[in-house]
Amino acid sequence: MRIRNEQPSDLKTIYRILSSAFPAEEEAKLVDGLRKNAIPTISLVAESKDGLIGHIFFSPVSIDGHPLLKIMGLAPMAVLPEHQNTGIGSALVAEGLSQCKALNTGAVVVLGHSAYYPRFNFAPAIQFGLESEYDVADDVFMAQELVKNYLNEVTGTIKYHQEFHKLS
Ligand SMILES: CC(C)(COP(=O)(O)OP(=O)(O)OC[C@H]1O[C@@H](n2cnc3c(N)ncnc32)[C@H](O)[C@@H]1OP(=O)(O)O)[C@@H](O)C(=O)NCCC(=O)NCCS
Repeated sequence: MRIRNEQPSDLKTIYRILSSAFPAEEEAKLVDGLRKNAIPTISLVAESKDGLIGHIFFSPVSIDGHPLLKIMGLAPMAVLPEHQNTGIGSALVAEGLSQCKALNTGAVVVLGHSAYYPRFNFAPAIQFGLESEYDVADDVFMAQELVKNYLNEVTGTIKYHQEFHKLS
């Protein structure tokens, strides 16, 4: 298994992975929209000898009043159901965070499983003074600094790209 950047020929397979791992096609459509409209983005695939088995995507988020901050949102990520719990997701997150660092990203946020993301150094975003624009429990909206103390002077509500507003 290896993690690599997506290629144009991967797009249909990525759509299939996302629609198999999630109950509906919303996340697959979201990635198609972000790929067209968000800059910069990171889109990685996990490839095994049988083909693509996992995918992760990052796009920029913002906080009103802080136009220069470079924060990325991890969303969505998915591993084909038959390949879950074999370390693919962890490998995707590790490479994704490394590519975020390479883009000089100061922090990353994620809205997701509170028992999963802390193993990658995410902690409740509220500890950094960051709130979600969605009405969610504090423990599912998480953040981590890639640059030490990057969020020290920052508070506010994290806004995802407008493509996310099409999600129901
Ligand atoms: C979440 C997901 C990406 C994890 O990928 P993965 O390749 O199975 O993860 P890994 O093999 O790296 O890690 C497995 C660990 O994650 C845990 N895990 C998987 N799904 C979890 C969940 N929903 N909540 C909490 N922990 C979860 C497993 O229990 C396992 O724990 P262990 O290491 O203590 O045994 C994958 O399960 C998936 O695609 N799920 C459906 C789509 C989804 O929920 N995406 C994330 C949206 S936030």
